Amino acid sequence: MSTEGKTITCKAAIAWEANKPLSVEDVHVAPPREGEVRVRVTFTGLCHTDVYTLSGADPEGAFPSILGHEGAGVVESIGEGVTDVRPGDNVILLYTAECRKCKFCTSGKTNLCQAVRATQGQGVMPDGTKRFTSARTGQELFHFMGTSTFSQYTVVSQYSLVAVDPKAPMDRTCLLGCGVTTGYGAAVYTAKIEPRSTVAIWGMGCVGLAVAYGARERGAKRIIAIDMNPAKEAWAKEFGATEFINPKDVPPVEGGDAMVQHLVAITDGGLDYTFDCTGNIHVMRTALEACHKGWGVSTIIGVAKSGEEISTRPFQLVTGRKWQGSAFGGVKGRTQLPGIVNRYLQGEFKVDEYVTHREPLSRINEGLEHMHEGQCIRCVVDLA
Ligand SMILES: NC(=O)c1ccc[n+]([C@@H]2O[C@H](COP(=O)([O-])OP(=O)(O)OC[C@H]3O[C@@H](n4cnc5c(N)ncnc54)[C@H](O)[C@@H]3O)[C@@H](O)[C@H]2O)c1
Ligand SMILES: [Zn+2]
Ligand SMILES: [Zn+2]
Repeated sequence: MSTEGKTITCKAAIAWEANKPLSVEDVHVAPPREGEVRVRVTFTGLCHTDVYTLSGADPEGAFPSILGHEGAGVVESIGEGVTDVRPGDNVILLYTAECRKCKFCTSGKTNLCQAVRATQGQGVMPDGTKRFTSARTGQELFHFMGTSTFSQYTVVSQYSLVAVDPKAPMDRTCLLGCGVTTGYGAAVYTAKIEPRSTVAIWGMGCVGLAVAYGARERGAKRIIAIDMNPAKEAWAKEFGATEFINPKDVPPVEGGDAMVQHLVAITDGGLDYTFDCTGNIHVMRTALEACHKGWGVSTIIGVAKSGEEISTRPFQLVTGRKWQGSAFGGVKGRTQLPGIVNRYLQGEFKVDEYVTHREPLSRINEGLEHMHEGQCIRCVVDLA
């Protein structure tokens, strides 16, 4: 029996309030309106942004809501005017939308589409309303990052998803919705690492590993991975790092940054490219100052805590170092993700290797706990 045009009742993990476990219970999901798509979510990765918002620290975080933004699924039905996807299509959800029409999309300079950005930040659909209602209390629930993948069904803007080759297994390709694409894209599209260059990366989580992988693909000759967790050395080397440094092993120096001095010494003046994948503002400064005078480029990927600021002496920039940031790896989801999926299918792009944990939806809170264990790169939740 077709569900098209009808409200669907299914399970979702609801974030009722900040700092409380998610609650898996029934929700009603209204049909998609004009320009919207309803998706049966099959798998979702768990990412730090979900944990950050659940902690209450995210100024945009609204409760009660359905979190989740690293998801894959199948189109169940489409609203009026939707042209690019059809029911049955396998899709990856995109928290960085792509409308191909706004000033940002047409600039050729950025992937930060603004078509649905304002309402996405408010936790509502582009027409200002919501599609989720709690079956238990009758309350409407906020959307999250335009995706809300912690639900068996979700409704998104037609700009917030992309159809990909149905041969690609969704229990892995869901990771292309955030972490893997973010790190790889930052190395390849944002920094555009040049062959034979030197690279240092702080933080060997999913994002940092994907940076290392992208750096190797671009032909970097030295890829220095830096992490306080010694277990990450083996991981880093598997993804392309040539060296590993634990900051605890670098002896402190009087009146300076020991890590900057160490890196400048071992690279004959500093690195061509550095990346912060920790969200730590002190790491961000170190990463900039460890860049080579005249041309070194430091890319910030990590998300700092709300209200924090970065600093350095302007002379660092005057003398030719560049400081920049990257969101979703600079990738335009609807245009570029199908190609990345095809490369994955041809065995030319790593995705499977990031998955260390799997849980069913009923154990999503245990999944969130794995993320603090130090052995978890990505946990994928099965929504079936
Ligand atoms: N810009 C974007 O579009 C985007 C997208 C996704 C994630 N992120 C951010 O990227 C960051 C990394 O995400 P992840 O999923 O890989 O996280 P993760 O927690 O899995 O990995 C972080 C790693 O950094 C290490 N680390 C922490 N502090 C460190 C320090 N001071 N020095 C060296 N290593 C340190 C940890 O041991 C860990 O291995 C997070 O801040 C996340 O919010 C940004
Ligand atoms: Zn994420
Ligand atoms: Zn746009």
